[in-house]
Amino acid sequence: MQQKVAELEAKALAAVAAAADEAQLTELKVAYLGKKGEITQLSRMMGQLDAAERPAFGALVNQVKSSVEAAVAARMESLQAAARNARLQAETIDVTLPGARFTRGNRHILSLVQQQMEEIFIGLGYQVVQGPQVEYDYYNFEALNLPKDHPARDMQDSFYFSPNMLLRTHTSPVQARTMEKMQGRLPVMIISPGVVYRRDDDATHSPMFHQLEGLVIDKHVTFADLRGTLLAFARQMFGPEREVRLRPSYFPFTEPSAEVDISCFNCGGAGCRLCKGSGWIEILGSGQVHPRVLEMSGYDPEQCSGFAFGMGIERVAMLKYGITDLRLMFDNDVRFLNSF
Ligand code: PHE
Repeated sequence: MQQKVAELEAKALAAVAAAADEAQLTELKVAYLGKKGEITQLSRMMGQLDAAERPAFGALVNQVKSSVEAAVAARMESLQAAARNARLQAETIDVTLPGARFTRGNRHILSLVQQQMEEIFIGLGYQVVQGPQVEYDYYNFEALNLPKDHPARDMQDSFYFSPNMLLRTHTSPVQARTMEKMQGRLPVMIISPGVVYRRDDDATHSPMFHQLEGLVIDKHVTFADLRGTLLAFARQMFGPEREVRLRPSYFPFTEPSAEVDISCFNCGGAGCRLCKGSGWIEILGSGQVHPRVLEMSGYDPEQCSGFAFGMGIERVAMLKYGITDLRLMFDNDVRFLNSF
């Protein structure tokens, strides 16, 4: 009997040592040590033995079991190590290949252009101030010399919350708010960029767009100062060769008022498609601050004077980057947005 057990052990150990891979080894483990495995079955033979012989036989079977289990575990480990080594040798990693790229976002064209504009005016000594988008009728119109039934209100039809509150139609209400806050102190020298709203919607008008307002008030501020300021802006924004041209215009809050054109940077003034053959491109509205507007916000028109201007940021962006449809700037197509 013992002879038989010893032979079975030797056979099992030899088979385990010869197992070629993990699958084969697992099969062997089942065949010898599984529920119906050959070594497990040895315990059944207990019945054929005398009671006196049983303990020694049981101990022998347990010892064989442990030795085969240990051999299986050892063989498993060495097979796994060999497999791992083989894989490491087969796989080569080219560390010189480029890594996976992170796509990084970039600033929106409008915030980029707004920043360029702000930087030019900051360089000229202006401060940047903000105003609310939901505005009182008073600041949007009345304090700008547009009383309730003024016909010029029609130029800027808007979205009303109540008879006294609306989405601002321009950044000009920040003029009145700033003067009120400054309580007559001089000088006032601010720009105010921000969102405005109008009932307009086509390739060059959006119901939501951006303007940048400018306001200067001090002693002896003249129309020549306005012209010089806008010329400095035009040259920094659109190139050192630019000229500006002022055309008479009308705004209730400025007197006199002027529409400002810059010489076409595409053709240099000769006339092309961009400037519609005229050599000039309109970029903003402006004028001397109306005495009534100064008065309403606590400034004495006998003591000081000023100028104001307002321009569309989308318009500046479209001109500078040759964008033909304003709506592209609000469509969130990354192919467009990533190109700036
Ligand atoms: N607020 C005017 C507009 O939106 C522009 C403007 C601003 C004109 C300041 C004159 C002075 O059309």
